[in-house]
Amino acid sequence: MNVMKEFYCRVFQFGFKVAIPLLPYRNPEVLESVSKVPGLLEKQNIKSVLLVTDRSIRKFGITEPLEKLLRKSDIKVTVYDGVTPNPTVGEVEEARGMYIAHNCEALIGFGGGSAMDAAKAVGALIARPKCTLEDLGGIMRVWAKTPLTIAIPTTAGTGSETTVAAIVQDSETKHKYAIMDFPLIPDAAVLDPENTRTVPPAVTAGTGADVIVHAVEAYIGGSTTKLTRRESLRAVRLAFKYLERAYKNGNDMKARRAMARASYLAGAAFTVSYVGYAHAVSHSLSGRYNVPHGQTCGILLPYVLEAYGAKIYPQLHALGIAAGVATIDMDETEAAKRFLKALKDLWKKIGIPEKVKELRREDIPALAAQADKEGNPVYPVPVIMDANELKRFYYDVLE
Ligand SMILES: NC(=O)c1ccc[n+]([C@@H]2O[C@H](COP(=O)([O-])OP(=O)(O)OC[C@H]3O[C@@H](n4cnc5c(N)ncnc54)[C@H](O)[C@@H]3O)[C@@H](O)[C@H]2O)c1
Ligand SMILES: [Fe+2]
Repeated sequence: MNVMKEFYCRVFQFGFKVAIPLLPYRNPEVLESVSKVPGLLEKQNIKSVLLVTDRSIRKFGITEPLEKLLRKSDIKVTVYDGVTPNPTVGEVEEARGMYIAHNCEALIGFGGGSAMDAAKAVGALIARPKCTLEDLGGIMRVWAKTPLTIAIPTTAGTGSETTVAAIVQDSETKHKYAIMDFPLIPDAAVLDPENTRTVPPAVTAGTGADVIVHAVEAYIGGSTTKLTRRESLRAVRLAFKYLERAYKNGNDMKARRAMARASYLAGAAFTVSYVGYAHAVSHSLSGRYNVPHGQTCGILLPYVLEAYGAKIYPQLHALGIAAGVATIDMDETEAAKRFLKALKDLWKKIGIPEKVKELRREDIPALAAQADKEGNPVYPVPVIMDANELKRFYYDVLE
């Protein structure tokens, strides 16, 4: 990494770190069940909402109780169920068209990160009607009030219900990017683990891995606060205890509840303290090959942690204690190794592979350039790497 570029990155990150207490972070109002949603909308005198979801969630009947409750309360519900995993700009624009055509006044994102992000991105376009999503990509480009937005997660993974981010992809260029701004934090989130009961094991594993990657990347970065460190460690504690259980038995509601909580905590941590290169590299891969976000992040995390080396051993020690595999009096190197081993063991148990089989060698330079653009200077990673250095992670996961 060029010394001047590294200096620029660190100055940029320092600016954002000192600004944390001044920035308008907020938490959504947390509701325990969808039954509270009509009341919340009535309080705001909202008569028409757009529910953004995907076809399989609707097919499972997960949105039906809420749709019925809203109609009973004389709130008109228009449903857009065309969201696909890794939602596209085209889908968001289609949903925005429905929002306008049906005079909607609020948004409900009901699904995994894809549906919640699509709803948040619709909100960004409504707030800034003259802009494209591409114009709004990056940090703090929305700067306008979005419609009231309620996020209802049906996976325990992204934490989108509490984050500033909406991640979309351009289906032509395959470029996947984040829109990150404070108006995108949902106004309310319904955290009901019942909505995650039908998540199939492979999705439970991938989304659960995403929880751990959020917590770990937020914790080892240079922009943590006392609160985000605590949230990350609690998320890691819960996920190491309950993810395998939720994977093995989707009806284990104690495990599902714990993972829903872990997802929210990890989201709250990384929305303030950012993620790192596992995410930057993963976004380039999931955009190009349409591979699941969480699983790809999970595959990358051990390689990324190993590449940072001894610099992060103190943090890995603390994470090891939270994961229940290290003790406070243990040698730091030993504790870090134990955490890495526990992470790899957990991935094996829940079927997270070690390679991304879709990756093609000839794509690596372009993908690494994308990861560099996303990660630098924004992510306060322990060791800064440029596009050339980031290529190592693609070779690591190449089959
Ligand atoms: N906004 C953020 O802060 C943030 C953070 C991390 C990731 N993301 C983004 O979120 C997206 C990934 O979201 P995700 O991992 O939740 O997956 P997803 O929303 O793409 O859903 C994955 C699959 O699981 C299915 N599914 C979801 N809930 C289900 C349920 N209850 N029962 C049965 N099937 C169900 C979906 O239909 C889909 O086929 C990516 O685009 C990623 O980049 C956003
Ligand atoms: Fe993620």
